[in-house]
Amino acid sequence: MVKKILYFTVILVGLLFVVSCDNASKKQEVAKQETKVIKEEIKKDGLTEEVKSDFLKKGMFIAKSSGKTLKSKLTAAVDKGGLQNGINTCNKIAQKMMDSLAVVYDAKIKRTSLKIRNKKDKPDQNELSVLSEYSKIIKNGEKPKPQVKELASGKVRFYAPIIIEKVCLNCHGKIGENVKPQNYDVIKKHYPNDEAIDYKEGDLRGIWSITFNK
Ligand code: HEC
Repeated sequence: MVKKILYFTVILVGLLFVVSCDNASKKQEVAKQETKVIKEEIKKDGLTEEVKSDFLKKGMFIAKSSGKTLKSKLTAAVDKGGLQNGINTCNKIAQKMMDSLAVVYDAKIKRTSLKIRNKKDKPDQNELSVLSEYSKIIKNGEKPKPQVKELASGKVRFYAPIIIEKVCLNCHGKIGENVKPQNYDVIKKHYPNDEAIDYKEGDLRGIWSITFNK
């Protein structure tokens, strides 16, 4: 256990360097090595509670740091060039950030939803069942928790809920009420089949789905 905490700390530190963009490749190599060690342990012992909790921590870190970066970059872009600038830059920044985290963790990072904006984010069967599980929990007034599951392929996947906050309503709320019609025109131009509107604060917007290769 102590060893695993140590591995995890090394990964975190490695990642912080990557996120700050300096000296990235050497630190990435360290993080990759440590991830490999955890993976080898899974091969040996299967998905034990201890290994699950390692992946839970890694997943939480990826989801939290991606979410934070997305939010701050989005706010900065909106401040600089208005909401339409936010819409235009959001996609590019989000993708870059998630790509670099994906390399470090050897993982596929995805956000998905029952109502999608980008068709690349379409949920698979496993994600659909987690989405409906989390929706029910929220309907009952409870808080859905992050979880780790093993897929049929043997890969390990982390899930966590994404909840609508006030700021999200600018682009995911009701048109004419929260979303300005001229802004929605820009969204529609990029995403003609957009479904991701009519949300209220506290709604389940979707989930993080992070699949670790092994
Ligand atoms: C400035 C407009 C804007 C704001 C504000 C915004 N989003 Fe989005 N959101 C978008 C766009 C554009 C996409 C499509 C991104 C892409 O193509 O990858 C998107 C995609 C998503 C997705 C991926 C699933 C899908 O439907 O494709 C999630 C989840 C999401 N947003 C959640 C949120 C949450 C939570 C907030 C508030 C914290 C938020 N968004 C605020 C514009 C916005």
